[in-house]
Amino acid sequence: MDYEIGNDIEKVLIDAPAIKVRLAELGKQIAADYTGKELLMVGILRGAAVFYADLARLIPLPLHMNFMAVSSYGQGSESSGAVRIYYDLNEDIKGRDVLIVEDIVDTGLTLKYLSETLSARKPASLKTCCLLDKPARRKVDFTPDYIGFTVPDEFIIGYGIDYAEMYRNLPYIGVLKRTVYEK
Ligand code: IMP
Repeated sequence: MDYEIGNDIEKVLIDAPAIKVRLAELGKQIAADYTGKELLMVGILRGAAVFYADLARLIPLPLHMNFMAVSSYGQGSESSGAVRIYYDLNEDIKGRDVLIVEDIVDTGLTLKYLSETLSARKPASLKTCCLLDKPARRKVDFTPDYIGFTVPDEFIIGYGIDYAEMYRNLPYIGVLKRTVYEK
């Protein structure tokens, strides 16, 4: 399928078949690690929505779904550094096995903050899973428990990930042309 916004894409980094293969592996690994448990998957809106929906269907365990929304880059391409919760969980996670599902770990600020915030609510366990890890940009010491792909320091869009709320519906993970966000 041709996407009208295809001209804004510098290159495809990870195509749809490769995403599918990696997600199947991740699903298997998570299912093995949580066998006998009842997993609560907490998706971080909106970037993780596409990844979350595909991943959840590859984990054949009793599983609860819930979501949180936090601030990210807003309309720009640079993180403000401040993390704000716009929408919090509407249930108690005390004693639960919680897996936070995020799109990208960049500076690490968001997931570190969320991990600390949710840990304080005393879950039985808390792990983090990200589709993409950009370790080159890390500002705080944070390593996700599950990583889909490690990516270079480029501005990424597609498969749920946006620039100024666009490109989330691309079925692949791509690099945005600099001219799009530098104009
Ligand atoms: P962190 O707090 O710096 O780790 O950034 C986390 C959030 O920044 C992610 O959840 C994304 O929403 C956003 N982000 C980081 N890198 C990119 C990117 O390359 N493209 C689009 N959004 C990004």
